[in-house]
Amino acid sequence: MRDISVGYGPVRALRRVSLDLPEGTVVAVLGGNGAGKSTLLRAVSRTLSFQGGALTSGSVHFGGRRIDGLAADRVVAAGISQVPEGRQIFARMTVTDNLRAGALGATGSRAAKADALRRVHDLFPVLADRGAQRAGLLSGGEQQMLAVGRALMASPRLLLLDEPSLGLAPLMAARIADTIREINAQGTSVLLVEQNAALALRLATTAYVLDVGEVALSGPADELAASDEVRRRYLGVVDEDAAADATRGTGAPPTLRRWEADR
Ligand SMILES: Nc1ncnc2c1ncn2[C@@H]1O[C@H](COP(=O)(O)OP(=O)(O)OP(=O)(O)O)[C@@H](O)[C@H]1O
Ligand SMILES: [Mg+2]
Repeated sequence: MRDISVGYGPVRALRRVSLDLPEGTVVAVLGGNGAGKSTLLRAVSRTLSFQGGALTSGSVHFGGRRIDGLAADRVVAAGISQVPEGRQIFARMTVTDNLRAGALGATGSRAAKADALRRVHDLFPVLADRGAQRAGLLSGGEQQMLAVGRALMASPRLLLLDEPSLGLAPLMAARIADTIREINAQGTSVLLVEQNAALALRLATTAYVLDVGEVALSGPADELAASDEVRRRYLGVVDEDAAADATRGTGAPPTLRRWEADR
């Protein structure tokens, strides 16, 4: 995406955001509440208008094709599926019908959709075991699996994930993380929005940090995770030496050697 700006009426949510996602990689988008993470995903999936938002500048290309003029269902057909914030499963429908809904609008044949269902059941056996139950009866973690499984039913080349670990116990969050790694290993690119920076940086190749609608930092995830300043500012890690230096006033101001603010 290049120079994307988004507004919800008078609210400016993103300002000239550019982001690259090399095919086959996991890219993480980090940032606090209201930074614009969900907005960024909606700009890709073309679901902004459902939320009263609109793109005011910029362009989005996917696989060499410009997609920022498409309707949301055409974006799915083009190979991009989103797992929305808060999961948004259909609570009164069965687990299996939720999964079937994810294949609506996808371009594949019936055989391809059957393959997709097998793949989802392999990843999440619980969704096969509980297939006939109402989705609202699943636990929070199982509902997150269902939301991911539903998105995979369209056999996307790119999966957009909005805070998949939110509200999950550490063990369940770790399981979801393992699954994201596996989905990526099977060939699907992932754009991962997370407030859990530690989890996201373990999964991602590249990361972007959003701060009030702008890209504050970007670069390789391992360098971001290792950078003292990033560890303090975004990972909540207290560096005692640096803190002591700062109190004594002797330390140099924290700088990022290979990390530079975009502007
Ligand atoms: N539907 C909407 N109408 C008006 N303003 C909105 C709407 N959705 C988001 N915003 C505003 O846009 C900005 C970015 O919101 P967004 O939901 O993208 O942030 P976020 O990084 O996903 O936050 P969170 O971590 O809380 O999910 C915020 O100022 C928010 O209040
Ligand atoms: Mg959000």
